[in-house]
Formats: sequence, C-alpha cells, structure tokens
Amino acid sequence: MCGIVAYFGKKAAQPILLEGLKRLEYRGYDSAGVALMAGNTFEQHKTSGRIANLEEVLPAVNAAQTIGIGHTRWATHGEPNTTNSHPHTDATGKITLVHNGIIENYATLKKWLLKEGCTFQSETDTEVLANLIGYFYTQEQDKDGTACEHFERAVQKALNEIYGTYGLAIMCADCPDMMIGVKKGSPLILGVGENEFVLASDASAIVEHTTRAVYMSDGEMVIIHADGFTTKTITNKEVSKELKDIEFSLDQIELEGFEHYMQKEIAEQPEALHTCLNGRIDLKNGRVILGGIQNLLRDLTRTKRIIMTACGTAWHAALVGEFLFEQLARIPAEVEYASEFRYRNPIVEEGTVVIAISQSGETADTLAAIEQAKERGATVLGVVNAVGSTIARLTDAGVYLRVGPEIGVASTKAFTAQVSVLAMLAVELGRRRHLSADAAQTILTELAKIPQKVESILAQQEHIKAIAQANIHKDNWLFLGRGFNYPVALEGALKLKEISYIHAEGLPAAEMKHGPIALITDDMPAVFVATQCSQYEKVIGNIEEVRARGGKTIVVATEGDDHIAPYADYLITVPDTIEQLQPLLTVVPLQMLAYHAAVLRGHDVDKPRNLAKSVTVE
Ligand code: G6P
Repeated sequence: MCGIVAYFGKKAAQPILLEGLKRLEYRGYDSAGVALMAGNTFEQHKTSGRIANLEEVLPAVNAAQTIGIGHTRWATHGEPNTTNSHPHTDATGKITLVHNGIIENYATLKKWLLKEGCTFQSETDTEVLANLIGYFYTQEQDKDGTACEHFERAVQKALNEIYGTYGLAIMCADCPDMMIGVKKGSPLILGVGENEFVLASDASAIVEHTTRAVYMSDGEMVIIHADGFTTKTITNKEVSKELKDIEFSLDQIELEGFEHYMQKEIAEQPEALHTCLNGRIDLKNGRVILGGIQNLLRDLTRTKRIIMTACGTAWHAALVGEFLFEQLARIPAEVEYASEFRYRNPIVEEGTVVIAISQSGETADTLAAIEQAKERGATVLGVVNAVGSTIARLTDAGVYLRVGPEIGVASTKAFTAQVSVLAMLAVELGRRRHLSADAAQTILTELAKIPQKVESILAQQEHIKAIAQANIHKDNWLFLGRGFNYPVALEGALKLKEISYIHAEGLPAAEMKHGPIALITDDMPAVFVATQCSQYEKVIGNIEEVRARGGKTIVVATEGDDHIAPYADYLITVPDTIEQLQPLLTVVPLQMLAYHAAVLRGHDVDKPRNLAKSVTVE
C-alpha cells in the first residue's frame, strides 16, 4: 500500500528510483512521482496513473543528481491526481518527502498550520506532515546548530505530534548531503551498498543494488550522510542496528518468461511447497521440526485455545487451520478477521495462543491485532512469508513460509504454503497430545506428495482456460464447498472477483438453500468443490439442488470418480489425497480459473483496480 524508494549515492538517482518504483508498483499504482536533489533545491516530477506514465514525463537523466526519493501511490486521502501525488513539499519549499501510511490527526494539524499561515496544494495527509516538519524547521533555524541538526530535530518534533503510521524518506533543501528515513507501522528497509544507500518499503527495490540491509523498527529513524548512516529513535535515543542479508535474489522477482506474476506464482507452487516442507517432516517418527517455534512448543501443546487472526487470503488459510487444529490436535481453535479482533475487546484467557498469518508480514490490521493480543498476555506466533517483516519481528516466535517473494496482488502460493505450515503445526501438536505415530505418518506422507500432485493439476491449463472461456460472459458466480473445502470455496470466489471483477460469492454448500439458491439461473455458474470426502454425498445433494433449478455447474472432483460426470457441466479433476489436505489441491484449479477469466476479460491481472498487495493502512 504505497511504495517508497530513495537513493543516496554516487550514481544517477533517477533511473534507480524508476526501477525501484517498478518493483514496488504492486503496492499501489494510482499515481507516482520522484524528487531529485538539485543543488539547494529539488527537481520534482509527478503524474497520475502507472509508473509507465511517470517514465514518459521524466526528463533525460542528469548524472549529477545522485540523491532522490520516489513514490508509487495507493490513494487514501484525496483522489489519485497529479497534485495529490507524492513527493509532497512544504510551503517554504525546504522540505520534501514521500510517505507510506496514514496521518490520522492530519485534519487537526492542518487547521492549526493554516492558522499559522501555511498554504496547501493537495488534499493529502502527507502534505500536512511536510508542512509540520517545515514549520518546526523554520523555528529551529533561530536556534544554535547546523542546518542538518535543525532538519533532524524538526523531523523528530513533527513526528512526536503525529498519530498514525508512516514509512518516510525526507530531504531538506539546505542539507543536500543528507536524507532521513523514519518508520512507524509501515515497512522500511535500508539497503547498504558500497558508497550508496537504497531506502525502500521492501527489499525488492533494493536487492539489485545490495543484499545487505538494516530492517528499521517502529519509532526509529535513519540519518544518511555521504560518509555513512546513524540510527536513533524519534525521541533521540541512539540505537544500534544489525546489518542482515536479504534472503532472496533478483531472479525470484523477475517474470522469467511468464506473462504475469500471478501466473508464475501459481506455476511455482510445486517447487515453493517443496521448499516450504523441505527438512521439516520427519516421516520415520511421524514428527515435524519447525525450528522457529521449538522454544514455545510446550506452551503450544498445553494451550486451551488457539485464535488465528489474518486478513484476505490468509484468513481463508486460517479457516483451514481451524479445522486442522481441531481435528488433528483436538485444540479448540477459532479464526478472527484482524480488523474485527482488534476493536472487539476480545477475551484472551491465560494460556491462549494467537497465530497471526500474513504473507507480507506488514498488514496494518494484523499488526494491530497482534499488539492487542500481546497486551492481553497471549503468546503470539507468526506464520509469515516476508523474512524480517514487522510481523515476523513482533511475534514471540514463528514459522516462515519459505516460498520466496509473492508479487501478484492475488495471493496464490502463499495460501498453499500457509495451509501446509498450519497442517505441519497441527500434526506436531497432535503428536504431543494424542495423535498416534501411524496417523501422523499417514498425514505427513500425503503432505510430502502434494507438490507433485499440484504439478499434475497445472498440466490441465488448456482445459481450465477453455472452461473460463465458456463462462466468461457470466457476471455472477457461486463457489460452494463443505468441510475442508468450504474455505476453498471462499478463496475461489475471492480470486475470481479481485482480478476479473466478476461478482462471486463463496459459501458452505449447505448454506446455499438458506438464501443464495434464489439467485440460481442458467446464467449463474455454480462452482462446486466435490472431492471424495466425508461429505461427498451431501455435496452431490447440493449439486442436484442447483441443477434442478436449471443452474450450470463447474465441478472440481477427485480423479477416477466415475460417479460425478452427470453432475458436472464442466469437470475438473484433482489427484486424490486425504480430506484434511484437499484444500492444497482443490484451490489450484480455482486459482487457474480466476487467472484465465481475468486475462480473457482483458484485465491487468497483477495490478487489479483499487487493490494493493500489502495493506499497510487500516
Ligand atoms: C491484501 C492482498 C491479499 C492478502 C491480504 C492479506 O488484501 O491483496 O492478497 O491476502 O492483503 O495480506 P497479508 O500480506 O497479511 O497476507
């Protein structure tokens, strides 16, 4: 949700910022802009729309401009036009900045600044912050010290007046050899290269330049000078930060011949899941080794209740997790939308374990839910993909997905990896409670076979594309499943609507008769997940109900099911596996169906309208 990138070094900044913005474009693509340090002033270029639009308005590269900041926006305050684009500069023209986050008290501050004589160009909260820093900077100039010291103190003073979240890169016209980065609630990483620094919302904009980085924590600022950098808190306490390795390579964020990241990430699932499972399964003993949570396993085993909290696709994975923990470990489990959990005054009894699930590790609502849970004394585990992300650092312990960066806005490989991790955790907790070695071995043997089975589903690409083509003109779809496949129905509907803009609803199949059945016509495809499972006959009953009313069905069934053909207008099969692991297979054709529907409708699959990959605002 908004991406920021800044360069400070010896090379021309403009192309580096542009490349960085392209890497961050998945975070938001409503408008974009850059500001370059040009002597004691700034040269700014901004435009609405995609980075490609910005590229068109940028002048020829000036090699002497080696310091600059850039932004790609997901609009919160003010429509996505050029004036509202970042960077925003204060009324004195001395301070310019890019911002990812929200300034919650911007209206009060704006009123006050207006009274103080400030003028504003845009409707954004960010311009208020630029002016607040500018206001304090003007005041500081009457005091002792250098311009750089004034700048630094002005930033600290302004941020101490702010409620909200921010990842910021800030420049001051009087300090052409200095830049400040600050973080609270939005991600910020400082890439440290040879005589150069790249400050960015995520590592994808950094990894081309250096793989050494400092992961900033909330309330911290970095002051970059030509001879190095210092870190402190916004309350001016020195902090020493460790340089860490960025754990992914440039190849992982390239398209590598695929047309879209989503297509690549669907296709990557066999390898990604293999990496996720690798070294974690001890088949011989029916055990699971998850290094990151070893120290907490005793607490986990004894817990009376697990609460999983997440948003979007991760919430659907959590729902599968609920069934897994209950069935395999016999631990009461529940799933909460992070945005609801945080405001509900939740009851968190002693010994409750909260598991936060997040691909990006930066989702604002999930972060706030974790804070809420910690305040109430819960042990909090993270199931996160992005290494070093805020959630990964905030939780007491955690398990990484290990599937590499996910860039397509519609989450795919993260879902299957999240379910895999939750399955492993449920088995291990089960083993520590009552689950026999035999039962665990059966589940883990099946889990180990999943990557290869996903491969065989991917081979049905043309068949699934043809089904999407045949139904592409239908504007309303239903997705239905029961038991372990009920979350898959929800996820299938979410995938279709978010990238193809087709209205879709996911439901537990039996709930259909309590309302949605009224919608059934031959113009509304009903996608059923009807694999061999304990509720198979019941699902068949639900399919009959739809067909009796003239509905058309797309059915995901188990390979070799001879009984199913008459129930399906369109049939997709997946290899057989145990019921608890079926979501790992049944979700894949639904991802593919959504992908092809979006492509056939001519949409930009990786950058669906109004969405962003990482939602770092509430
Ligand atoms: C956004 C993305 C979804 C994702 C959700 C949660 O809405 O578009 O794909 O599932 O955020 O993100 P997280 O990074 O916390 O898993």
